[in-house]
Amino acid sequence: MGLLDRHVGLHALNREVHATGVNPFGIRMERVLSATEAMIDGRKTLLVGTNNYFGLTFDQSCIDAACEAIRSEGTGTTGSRICNGSYSQHLLLEKELAEFYGKKHCMVFTTGYQANLGVISTLVGPEDFLLIDADSHASIYDAVKQTQAEVVRFRHNDPSSLEARLRRLGDKPGNRLVVLEGVYSMLGDSAPLKEFVAVCKKYGAYVLVDEAHSLGLLGDNGRGLCEAVGVLQDCHFIVGTFSKTLGAIGGYCVSNEPDFDILRISTRSYMFTASSSPGTIASVRQALKIMKEKGPELRKRIWDNVATLYDGLAAHGFKLGPEHGPVVAVHLPDPMTAIGFWRSLLEAGIYVNVVVPPATPNNLSLLRCSVSAALSREQLKHMVEVMAGIGRQLKVIGPAAQAAAAE
Ligand SMILES: Cc1ncc(COP(=O)(O)O)c(C=O)c1O
Repeated sequence: MGLLDRHVGLHALNREVHATGVNPFGIRMERVLSATEAMIDGRKTLLVGTNNYFGLTFDQSCIDAACEAIRSEGTGTTGSRICNGSYSQHLLLEKELAEFYGKKHCMVFTTGYQANLGVISTLVGPEDFLLIDADSHASIYDAVKQTQAEVVRFRHNDPSSLEARLRRLGDKPGNRLVVLEGVYSMLGDSAPLKEFVAVCKKYGAYVLVDEAHSLGLLGDNGRGLCEAVGVLQDCHFIVGTFSKTLGAIGGYCVSNEPDFDILRISTRSYMFTASSSPGTIASVRQALKIMKEKGPELRKRIWDNVATLYDGLAAHGFKLGPEHGPVVAVHLPDPMTAIGFWRSLLEAGIYVNVVVPPATPNNLSLLRCSVSAALSREQLKHMVEVMAGIGRQLKVIGPAAQAAAAE
């Protein structure tokens, strides 16, 4: 057996996908025109799958800040902060993020993936318990592979399931760390965070919330779901990313835990990788400034856009994720229908993500649309009509779909 033969299941899917003529996992953006448009297959394409929630990737002030930093500090740091030192901008960004959340400490990571991987796996040790939602992001599951703690999974978004597991642990020694996400990345559903936090308090568990998809979008100041439901001070660790709302790349963790900084010399994904480049950090600092200044306006725009897309698709009879969210997930009956739908949409000049098992919860086949404040209402209404046309053609909406559902 060859080294790659164990991926036999994926090879079969890959072959089937390639036979359709386009590979959804190998899309080439020939030219990126703006936060919402790119040239794909020689065609101007609307981007509704890129998590560019505030559309800041082409903001002139962020670009200027990045260019200025590259000119003065160079293109890269060429090493980790424990070896090559921190640049002033790393420290300033950490201070600004800590202040933004009203927390004492902040650590910036090169990606959000590394923030989750490192913080979660390092916080808990062999005596401890790590409790995670079943639908957690891959970065959380990868932290599970690295931790020495005992891992316990609870049902997605179900505080009673978490409570049952905490109760079962009884008075076993060791800390309990519960990991949640503000908004889940596949279905766009938000956690019942208030209820989860109440359970954690009852059982003396620490809480870590990943606000990757809620930074900027929720809460009066855009601090995420923790702020929106009034539990910011009850959450011991908040993790987030710069790769979505802030339009760059990187991750962070903020906390009030007094010895938090010990993570700087114990977290492998912080210590053994190069730190973020000066250009990236400068653009993130500027994006954070924009988020603070223009947050209310940008939030209104994105939530109006979410309503246009979600309600428009729902009115045509599409089965969607459970609630309005920055991710609007369209359920399709099987992987090949999802890929066929995705391909027709791309041919019509609209790019979304197609996600199929094993990457999805409950083996769902989904078209994952991520909404941006930079999209216009007209663009989204056009998208709804295009999707309705394809949906009818593929019989996933309309009388044929209803008859099949009734059987
Ligand atoms: C919930 C969640 N956490 C973490 C990450 C990782 O973020 P990054 O892109 O910064 O690595 C993602 C990105 O997809 C995510 O969806």
